[in-house]
Amino acid sequence: MVKAIIAPSMLSSDFANLASEAQRMLNCGADWLHMDIMDGHFVPNLTLGAPVIESLRKHTKAYMDCHLMVTNPLDYVEPLGKAGASGFTFHVEASRDNWQELVQRIKSKGMKPGVSLKPGTPIEEVYPLLDGENSVELVLVMTVEPGFGGQKFMPEMMDKVRTLRKKYPLLDIEVDGGLGPSTIEAASSAGANCVVAGSSVFGAPDPAQVISLMRNSVEE
Ligand code: DX5
Ligand code: ZN
Repeated sequence: MVKAIIAPSMLSSDFANLASEAQRMLNCGADWLHMDIMDGHFVPNLTLGAPVIESLRKHTKAYMDCHLMVTNPLDYVEPLGKAGASGFTFHVEASRDNWQELVQRIKSKGMKPGVSLKPGTPIEEVYPLLDGENSVELVLVMTVEPGFGGQKFMPEMMDKVRTLRKKYPLLDIEVDGGLGPSTIEAASSAGANCVVAGSSVFGAPDPAQVISLMRNSVEE
């Protein structure tokens, strides 16, 4: 069985207190910190980049799961590697011409390569990235349109997760967008093992309880 990984999305945190917010999530049982990097071009929102990852790295040894919603992911490999990012997940829609070079460079910087796809992108598009030498080690299935936290989970994306899980029993399959106590069951039963959650965790009176509920659902 694949391991359950719960990754609070720091996009829903108080950015002015990022280090203490990260520590609060780790104390609540988070496995990874999900860091949403947006360039204001691939998506209509602008968030954070390598300098913020570097600053946060000085405060925590935690795994930083970086989700690159950017048009030119290749430009971010070197700076994010230096900054101390742990995972580097790029979008397949932004890397159709250069994913092999991208994966190679991500690995050479010691980061875990992942690929993400938007709701409108068919799952077949990631298959070539899962075979051969330069393959990714994680697939992030978006369950909302990327760009903003607090949107509604799209249950129809679970077909992608199911199909992928059947083909790749040991792959890390991550879901992102609208995950929380009311949607976790759909995602975990489809076969997702990495769960990103922003508003449901940060908005909860007891984030530890939400994290453990989601972990139990994946481990069931
Ligand atoms: C959206 C981001 C998500 C977002 C999730 O583009 O990739 O990580 O922060 O937030 P919630 O869990 O609130 O949908
Ligand atoms: Zn994300």
